[in-house]
Amino acid sequence: MDVLRITGGAELRGEVRASGSKNAALPIMAASILAGEPVLLERVPKLVDVDTLALLLGHLGVEVKRNAAGTVRLETVDPAPTLADYELVRRMRASFCVLGPLVARRGRAVVSLPGGCNIGTRPVDLHLAGLTALGAEIRIERGYVIATARGLRGATIDLAGPHGPTVTGTANVMSAATLARGRTTITSAAKEPEIVDLGQFLIALGAEIHGLGSDTIEIVGREWLGGATHRVIDDRIEAATLLLAGAIAGGEVRVGGAVAGHLAAVLEVLVAAGVDVECDVDEVSLRSCGRLQPIWAIAGPYPAIPSDVQAQLMAMAAIAGGRSVVGDNVFPNRFQHIDELRRLGARIERRGAECTVDGVGRLSGATVEASDLRASAALVLAALAAEGETTVRRLHHLDRGYERLELKLAHLGAHIRRQRDVAGPRSVGKRSHAAVEREW
Ligand code: EPZ
Repeated sequence: MDVLRITGGAELRGEVRASGSKNAALPIMAASILAGEPVLLERVPKLVDVDTLALLLGHLGVEVKRNAAGTVRLETVDPAPTLADYELVRRMRASFCVLGPLVARRGRAVVSLPGGCNIGTRPVDLHLAGLTALGAEIRIERGYVIATARGLRGATIDLAGPHGPTVTGTANVMSAATLARGRTTITSAAKEPEIVDLGQFLIALGAEIHGLGSDTIEIVGREWLGGATHRVIDDRIEAATLLLAGAIAGGEVRVGGAVAGHLAAVLEVLVAAGVDVECDVDEVSLRSCGRLQPIWAIAGPYPAIPSDVQAQLMAMAAIAGGRSVVGDNVFPNRFQHIDELRRLGARIERRGAECTVDGVGRLSGATVEASDLRASAALVLAALAAEGETTVRRLHHLDRGYERLELKLAHLGAHIRRQRDVAGPRSVGKRSHAAVEREW
């Protein structure tokens, strides 16, 4: 198991670029099942979750190859397999996104129900209701969803859940509807940029889709979809994480791949916290200006603060002067990071889906355990401002969704190193991005 060792106190300075978006790349890779010709995806991040989905797609007869430039080529070489195995789906909930494309393109899908998750209950009722409305026959047996259809037909489908729209539910239904006969209208659709990117990809394959980015998406089904080359959007969650690293550690950072329009709610909180923010076309510069101010940040469906940034904002609140409020209306139980932040000295009280955080002058380094992807990022950020050394364990959570975050932070001047079982401590220190990049 890898660990990260971080010595806090170093300010961050310089430029760094976010990778391609994990939460755009995954549903787009799953939707490549719909393509009748090869697909080329550029800027697919090198992540464990991407590897897991590539493995699953391989079991589903889709050949997945990544070239030296990081472009991923996907081509269906055997349309027969329709079983998405539990062992792979349980590792990553986004694997469930193969359900809609499989039943639309092959008329049958047997996909394991996603397993439990550290961020709260993750039902799929809206996915199944949407596909049923399109004419799929769905039954659940021995932990698998079995979906069959002799051709899907357009329908009107509402995807509102108790905590707002479902992102991957919108991905599943929108993808399936591209091959359904007639028109499909999805109301209460997710508006996240990652869904817009998926829609653009489907349009590049030849689909007809209107209303992307709004809560009503219209799809006019096609008989067949071709291939395409598509550049995955930048990862706004990673960009927000890198900006928050600059705010927490202090200093001046410029983050590429940070599209201000996709991060407005997060930038608003950063400004309220007292840092200077300057936006360009697809990059944001942040300059810290003394002690951080308390924040009020409640995560919600896009364009609200992303749930995937909630833990990182709590790390910032932990050192802000005064009392902050951080909450999550998407996943009201997504607070596994609280106990570990407390080990670093944070003062946090949880009341249901909201927490009050009384900022402390300085956190103190300790050994902490990551529980999920974004919680691990929050612990790394908090460690940047902690006195002494922090060890972050269970790093496999971080590697699921961040492409070598420690190298990016080291490039900005953080004292951080990944401890490998074999190679021993390896400090990357502050070196040129090119030198650090060469190691990737
Ligand atoms: C996507 O998960 C993201 N994952 C998550 O990012 C993100 O936190 C989440 O959206 C919210 O923005 C990917 O895109 C791969 P949801 P998803 O379905 O689609 C309820 C990360 O760290 N719901 O939008 O699984 C659900 O319980 C990950 O990168 C139903 O009630 O989330 C939740 O309260 C973690 N019924 C709310 O909707 C359903 O059928 C939003 O869930 C589906 C969801």
